[in-house]
Amino acid sequence: MIRPPGQDYISSVRIRRRVRELGRSIRRFYKNRPLTVVALLKGSVFFVVDLLRHLEPSTEVEFWTVSSYRGTRSTGRLHGLKSCRGNFRGRDVLLIDDILDSGLTLAHTRSHAKRLGARQVEVCVLLNKKRKRVRTVSARWVGFHITDRFVIGYGLDMDQRYRALPSIRALPEGV
Ligand code: IMP
Ligand code: MG
Repeated sequence: MIRPPGQDYISSVRIRRRVRELGRSIRRFYKNRPLTVVALLKGSVFFVVDLLRHLEPSTEVEFWTVSSYRGTRSTGRLHGLKSCRGNFRGRDVLLIDDILDSGLTLAHTRSHAKRLGARQVEVCVLLNKKRKRVRTVSARWVGFHITDRFVIGYGLDMDQRYRALPSIRALPEGV
């Protein structure tokens, strides 16, 4: 196998342990309230599946495929929202994403879920990048806080590659 770029950052063991903690906390928070988990694809695919194993079996799941145009952040454009659906009336929605970066993706999907009738929308991300946000978004659950550098693995890609790495690797700062 060709060695993937970057260096070890968060091991699969640490991820597994943290996902279990998050799952338990989420389960306690929602107790008997009807919950729909909305996973933002593709980045959150491994995270959401591992997390769901720790949630109430009656939890409903939707998958939304969206992408943000980096470089046009100021215009606040998010692609794919129009085809994102869900029957949320009277339900709590938990948005799941791989990483909170500029905040654009989660700000727009959060508003969209509210428009679709969600009673309350919370956010859970595996990673929270410490940087200046374009949009303010607060995540109730965060797996790990990281510095502003590019990471790959466990769903996170670099030009669609390296999502399948079981752990998270970091590229040197400034790449
Ligand atoms: P935001 O809209 O700027 O918050 O970006 C969120 C999306 O950008 C994430 O769902 C990722 O797909 C992507 N992204 C941001 N930072 C990274 C990174 O370090 N590695 C891989 N993808 C990233
Ligand atoms: Mg991506």
